[in-house]
Amino acid sequence: MDDIILEVKHISKYFGTFAANKNIDLKVKKGTVHSIIGENGAGKSTLMNMISGIYQPSQGEIYVKGEKVVFRNPNDATKRGIGMVHQEFMLFPELTILENLMMGFETTKSGRFLDKKKAAADIEEITKKYNFSIPLNQKAEELPVSLLQQVEIVKVLYKGAELIILDEPTAVLTPQGIEGLFAAIRNLTKLGKTIIMITHKLKEVMEISDYITVLKDGEVTGNLLPQETNEEEMASLMVGRKVLFNTTKQEKQIGGPILEVKKLTVADSDGVDRVKNVSLTVKKGEIVGIAGVAGSGQSELVEAIFGLRRPKSGDIYYKNELITNKTPREKRQVKIGYVPQDRLATGCCVNGSLMENCIMGYHVAHKFSNPRLINKKEARDFTEDVEKQFQVKIQDISDAMGTMSGGNIQKAIVGREFMQDNNLLIIEDPTRGIDVGAIEFIWQKIIDISEQGCSILLVSHELGEIMELSDRILIMYNGEITGNLLNTADLDEKTVGLYMLGGKKDEA
Ligand SMILES: Nc1ncnc2c1ncn2[C@@H]1O[C@H](COP(=O)(O)OP(=O)(O)OP(=O)(O)O)[C@@H](O)[C@H]1O
Ligand SMILES: [Mg+2]
Repeated sequence: MDDIILEVKHISKYFGTFAANKNIDLKVKKGTVHSIIGENGAGKSTLMNMISGIYQPSQGEIYVKGEKVVFRNPNDATKRGIGMVHQEFMLFPELTILENLMMGFETTKSGRFLDKKKAAADIEEITKKYNFSIPLNQKAEELPVSLLQQVEIVKVLYKGAELIILDEPTAVLTPQGIEGLFAAIRNLTKLGKTIIMITHKLKEVMEISDYITVLKDGEVTGNLLPQETNEEEMASLMVGRKVLFNTTKQEKQIGGPILEVKKLTVADSDGVDRVKNVSLTVKKGEIVGIAGVAGSGQSELVEAIFGLRRPKSGDIYYKNELITNKTPREKRQVKIGYVPQDRLATGCCVNGSLMENCIMGYHVAHKFSNPRLINKKEARDFTEDVEKQFQVKIQDISDAMGTMSGGNIQKAIVGREFMQDNNLLIIEDPTRGIDVGAIEFIWQKIIDISEQGCSILLVSHELGEIMELSDRILIMYNGEITGNLLNTADLDEKTVGLYMLGGKKDEA
């Protein structure tokens, strides 16, 4: 059929003896949105990396518009009209958007000088046609992620992409950002472009897809139409069982204050105050969620609490001791754990092995007996525990972290922090990029360790996650705490949402 823009036939991909993709067949129709779903480690990114020329298949063939192709590198795929937007953006912060867009695709005058005018005109034609609005002369570092993502899409369009692959594009976006992205996607497909999208958010799959393919353990286990399926069915096809999102909570004793933040003010690198005079308390065994629209200061707040940013003023007490200016290492030593938002930049070292990453930060802290000498057996046992309990998929714990799938890296980082007997855990977006089955498991873990007496400060972009887990919810708006709400049965998302937009203030 001539409206099939991409066909993958019998593709397999081996890493050593491990088959990440097995005999995959996939047909993608021109002008549609085709979603790929599946558990962490199912092989989604691997498959997309072959379609976009990053990896070569071990077996099988790829056809573009009916013609067999062999991609030796991403440039070969670009020439055939295939572009991929990766989850970690690849823009240069110091360069303007225009310079970023021209990078690797330089328009020149008489073959020697950069022709920015011509490039700008070409790009504006594209942005107008597909209804993107991005400021070409601003530096990338000045733009929010939702716009940077549009820049990435415009970049592949500028290189002539007909088929655009988006790997978990909504993981970093707010609800408004997601709406914007979906509007852009609809425009693109209306004008004949084709989208392949990987996502773990099944509600979005239902909303935007024309076709859905399910992968499990490297194989295609289902081809679905949104009008003939639902979230429950997709979830159970992905993980092989029913996913209920039911967490169980025991009666628990909430004790005295563990963490007390008093009048904390934190500035960003440009000297602008991002956290303004914030006070908060987390008690023993309590889960305190911080809700707020992106950029309200939540990240700066927790970074200051963990010691990654020095506050301008204010005090932080942990178990009645002043810890304001202690380093992250010193904080780990007194059993404060941290799951950062950015798993690759702050959370781990991709070239290090899983074992090295599991003991990282702890080899000098607690648990491992001799602080000077790493006890290999202890480290191995601990890593195997993390691997087993958190279902981290890796072939060997001495393999590099970077060989794992995105969600498995996340599970390893969360597992490492949770398996230590920490007294306080600061966790940011703990389930980012994690499949529905594993989310259920991690949610239960968070509840369980709080019941064992660990205090938890949770920051999440997912309001549903905050509502499900927190005993108390703090609302952050424009750098201030504007609400402090007990998470009782009658509190609903709508009320919290109002606070998040600055619409309501807590009298108390
Ligand atoms: N370069 C590599 N070397 C060894 N193994 C790899 C490599 N890349 C991927 N794998 C393995 O292949 C499997 C599939 O990985 P892939 O990244 O495709 O998963 P995914 O479906 O994208 O998962 P996620 O939802 O977590 O992103 C994983 O178990 C991973 O460990
Ligand atoms: Mg992936």
